[in-house]
Amino acid sequence: MYKNLESMLGEAEKLNYTVGAFNAHNLEMVPDMIRAAKDAGSPVIIQTSESTAKYVGMKNFVAVCKMMAEELLVDVDLHLDHAKSFDNIKEAIDAGYSSVMFDGSALPFRENMERSLRVTDYAHKHGVAVECEIGTIGGTEEGITVAEGVYTDPKQALEFLSNVPVDALAVGVGTHHGQFESKTKLNWNLIEELHSNISTPLVIHGGTGVNENDYHRLTENGIRKFNVGTELLVAWTRTAKKYFDKTEVNNSLRNNIMPCNKAVYDVVKHKIGLFLNK
Ligand code: 13P
Repeated sequence: MYKNLESMLGEAEKLNYTVGAFNAHNLEMVPDMIRAAKDAGSPVIIQTSESTAKYVGMKNFVAVCKMMAEELLVDVDLHLDHAKSFDNIKEAIDAGYSSVMFDGSALPFRENMERSLRVTDYAHKHGVAVECEIGTIGGTEEGITVAEGVYTDPKQALEFLSNVPVDALAVGVGTHHGQFESKTKLNWNLIEELHSNISTPLVIHGGTGVNENDYHRLTENGIRKFNVGTELLVAWTRTAKKYFDKTEVNNSLRNNIMPCNKAVYDVVKHKIGLFLNK
């Protein structure tokens, strides 16, 4: 089923697992991401940045995700990741995305709350779920670098949640976007404090840099959505370089692209196996 993030994460909470949220960097890789979820027996969140959504076309992402969810009988949520513009959020909701993230983490706290409220208001009226962020994630995403992340302040998170009815909360707990050559050191004291005070599903960003040995403990601490982007990008691009380099220019494009999508399939299926927490 094409599904709303709120109900998807609610089920994950009940059965104590985490849902993988995977960034699609083009339309080509999406069918293999959804097939991987189907084969792993899990729901999946396909997410796109504002720029990738514009590049591919929001309605094209919606059409593929909806059609495959129905045909493969797998739960799929299509999510707009790190949106900063209300216009883009509205466009995604109107196009049929099933959830959106409003990222006001760089704004002053009050302004983040006010603008998040405007988003939840519009989204909930349209049956669309919302993720917001308190604290920041360091690192590089879509070419934009934020040097150091800022840890989520638990008190601020609680104040935010008592004013804004979000369906998922992204937290700064030591992860970095785009970290693919090393692993991050998570702030477990903070994660445990957030978990014991907050019932809203929590979201990890910068998942590529998180050690897989930490996944189980994150699930046990209320992480219900776990974002992985760079690892897919790197797997796709490395495979593309290898194949494009060794084939003739008039070789069918399919022969070069299919292995790239397969590399993404393998990563998604592997990660989901760990997120299911069995
Ligand atoms: P990585 O690209 O570091 O895996 O992070 C993905 C992410 O958090 C998307 O919002």
